[in-house]
Amino acid sequence: MKVANKILLASAVSSLLVSNIFAADLVKEGEKVFNDKNKGNCLACHAISGQKIDGPGSVGPDLSMVAGYDDKMLYDMIYDTYPGKSKVTAMPAFGANGWLTDTEIKAVVAYLKSLQ
Ligand code: HEC
Repeated sequence: MKVANKILLASAVSSLLVSNIFAADLVKEGEKVFNDKNKGNCLACHAISGQKIDGPGSVGPDLSMVAGYDDKMLYDMIYDTYPGKSKVTAMPAFGANGWLTDTEIKAVVAYLKSLQ
């Protein structure tokens, strides 16, 4: 292999590592938001079976299976579950209410996607 190719390969591998580390950080941040009473407090209403979460609620559906949902769909559900109050729900519109930032919602989505 030519030296130039080796260097290219090495940089491709290292950028992959960097993005994996970044993704792991995002998942951790999302888990914090999910459990934090002053942030998402999602676990007050949602259980995630198989996860050792303290005192999960049962107001909302169990979120163990949502990892298979489309990223954008999950984001939209958390941003505003039923836009324009088209349906009455206990699920707060975290984005529309300004309770969570765009980055925090993306982190929560990354966390939910990691629960496969
Ligand atoms: C006050 C209770 C409550 C809190 C807090 C809450 N949710 Fe919900 N959530 C619900 C309810 C109730 C539903 C069912 C929606 C409906 O009425 O159709 C729901 C639905 C959902 C769904 C759709 C599930 C599906 O299978 O269709 C997702 C995803 C979700 N919530 C994520 C979250 C996340 C992430 C948080 C934290 C940022 C959160 N929820 C906080 C009550 C809550």
